[in-house]
Amino acid sequence: MIIIQVTCILKRESTRLNRLLTRSFRSDYKSIDWRKDWETIIRKISMIERCLPVSSVIDFGGMWGVDGLYSSICVEEFNIPRVTMIDKFESENWIQNPRLRANIDFRIGDFSDEVFMSSLKESYDLALAYDVLPHQRDPIHTLSLMLSKTKKFFLISQAILPEEIMPRNSLILLSGSRAKKLIPFHEKWTKEINYWANFSDATIMDSDHWLWGMTPSFIESLMAGLGWRIIHREFWRGWLPKSSKWKLCGLIFTKI
Ligand SMILES: C[S@@+](CC[C@H](N)C(=O)[O-])C[C@H]1O[C@@H](n2cnc3c(N)ncnc32)[C@H](O)[C@@H]1O
Repeated sequence: MIIIQVTCILKRESTRLNRLLTRSFRSDYKSIDWRKDWETIIRKISMIERCLPVSSVIDFGGMWGVDGLYSSICVEEFNIPRVTMIDKFESENWIQNPRLRANIDFRIGDFSDEVFMSSLKESYDLALAYDVLPHQRDPIHTLSLMLSKTKKFFLISQAILPEEIMPRNSLILLSGSRAKKLIPFHEKWTKEINYWANFSDATIMDSDHWLWGMTPSFIESLMAGLGWRIIHREFWRGWLPKSSKWKLCGLIFTKI
């Protein structure tokens, strides 16, 4: 019964967003693999919709693979007057296609850097942290910097390690040459580490490419400690390989 209801909701959302993301709209976003990412894109957009109306948005790390799609939806479809996007990288498509950048206040910078963050003078009603926290050298410090610019809603979507297979409140570093030393229960998990490393690509062994595995309870506890309460959670399998271990999550927090 519940499965049927969820499928119906997803179908309805999908039809609505199919209208929203028209063929011409989609053709601008060249880096997106629409077939692979469709469900995740729908869910990430509908999470924003749940928080409307808001008058300002900050999209942390909105570039790679999506060329600013979520920022653009906030401007074009949700008519949010102030939209800022931060990334340390600019895609070719973003540089070459001015339509993608229209009415988005894009700042090149590192949101884990206190000096850069202090250059943002205003704060925002809603913040997007879509697939960024697992890649931070120090995710807790970076998260607190991101929250310092957010007034009402903080949206997280990323791959997580579900509670069923992990101890509660787990945070483990999966990538980087020093990772193995840092992983607790090393003996028990050694076999799985290689396969977790394979979750990403070859660059995973490069310690510049951080990949943290977090349980949802870890994220929620951390956010609670920083003064934020969860108001919505959803989980799906998405495109992830080895999806018996990994899931994707969508979490909405509001300030306590
Ligand atoms: C995995 S992509 C996620 C893209 C998009 N948010 C999405 O949901 O598909 C991560 C993006 O965040 C950017 N990024 C990660 N850490 C960053 C940081 N500390 N400062 C600025 N940009 C960062 C990367 O350059 C990349 O564009």
